[in-house]
Amino acid sequence: MPVDSAVANPIAYSTAPPIAAGLLAWYDRAARRLPWRAPPGDPPADPYRVWLSEVMLQQTTVAAVGRYFAEFTRRWPTVEALAAADDAEVMGAWAGLGYYARARNLIACARAVAAAGGRFPDEEAGLRALPGIGDYTAAAIAAIAFGRRAVVVDANVERVVARLFRIETPLPVAKPAIRGAADGITPDMRAGDFAQAMMDLGATICTPKRPACAICPLIDHCAAFRAGDPERFPAKAPKAARPERKGTAFWLEAEGAVLLVRRPDKGMLGGMRALPTGPWTDADPGLAGAPRSAAWRSAGKVAHVFTHFALELDVVTAVASGRDAGEGEWWPVARIGEAGLPTLFAKAARLAQKARGKDGE
Ligand code: ADE
Repeated sequence: MPVDSAVANPIAYSTAPPIAAGLLAWYDRAARRLPWRAPPGDPPADPYRVWLSEVMLQQTTVAAVGRYFAEFTRRWPTVEALAAADDAEVMGAWAGLGYYARARNLIACARAVAAAGGRFPDEEAGLRALPGIGDYTAAAIAAIAFGRRAVVVDANVERVVARLFRIETPLPVAKPAIRGAADGITPDMRAGDFAQAMMDLGATICTPKRPACAICPLIDHCAAFRAGDPERFPAKAPKAARPERKGTAFWLEAEGAVLLVRRPDKGMLGGMRALPTGPWTDADPGLAGAPRSAAWRSAGKVAHVFTHFALELDVVTAVASGRDAGEGEWWPVARIGEAGLPTLFAKAARLAQKARGKDGE
């Protein structure tokens, strides 16, 4: 079925019940067992755990989230406990998961929910009004934690739907068409199981490369399979080149401690502990923005790809004669692993320590 005409004509989605029924039957057998999830057909899981997992899973894989979810729920088993936590402790526990605005919003959201009596709103509009909860997350929580019918579309679901209906329009222009098609197949009952079944199908069978169509429960409904070209979907517009920025990270050591700063709340890696850096610019900034004047030596480079630009940091090291009282905190080098550095700066710290070891200082 050529999809753009199908979107214009919702009657064309009258295949909805068989798709949902086939998918749910598959989910009953094959659902991934995940720590935040109720087994298929069971009453919904604790909304706090569903919310926490959905925030962690934004732009992050199930495999990467597992141990963070375990650690957060061990330290802060309820939304009230998380609301009462120290900001720095939460930011530190998030270190390594990336997209740090999520952690700042997590704290703000926990406090808003705790202040309102500790219960999450049970429908999309109320959820969407909370910090860090956008359309996708509101729909996911409403469906998974409260059993509400909601159209839950993440990147996995986008791929499944684009293939089922062979949506030719490239992303992101196709988003409304994909959403309309997803709406057409979303059942009224078991909305949470349906949403998670779509996610599981996308993650395990309807994969970006080499989808396992032979074992797909939706094979009989899939227009892209019939046409023999599922890998072509979702169609994507050519990517604009990602700008590149350069910066310098400063490892300044004195008496067994290194100078760390906390990055400003607004901006990249906001609120996280970090090595001091100068400006991040198109041209190499050299030693501009050095925290102190010193005999800086290069230890090598580290790179990180952010959503809107790629960053390369030159890591430089120096030894100061003593711990002065300027901006920043002196952190014991031997305990650098406990500083909660985001991955980019944890890599920079390893590089600096290796170089300092080689210098024999
Ligand atoms: N990705 C985002 N939310 C998810 C969930 N609830 N289950 C599996 N993968 C997910």
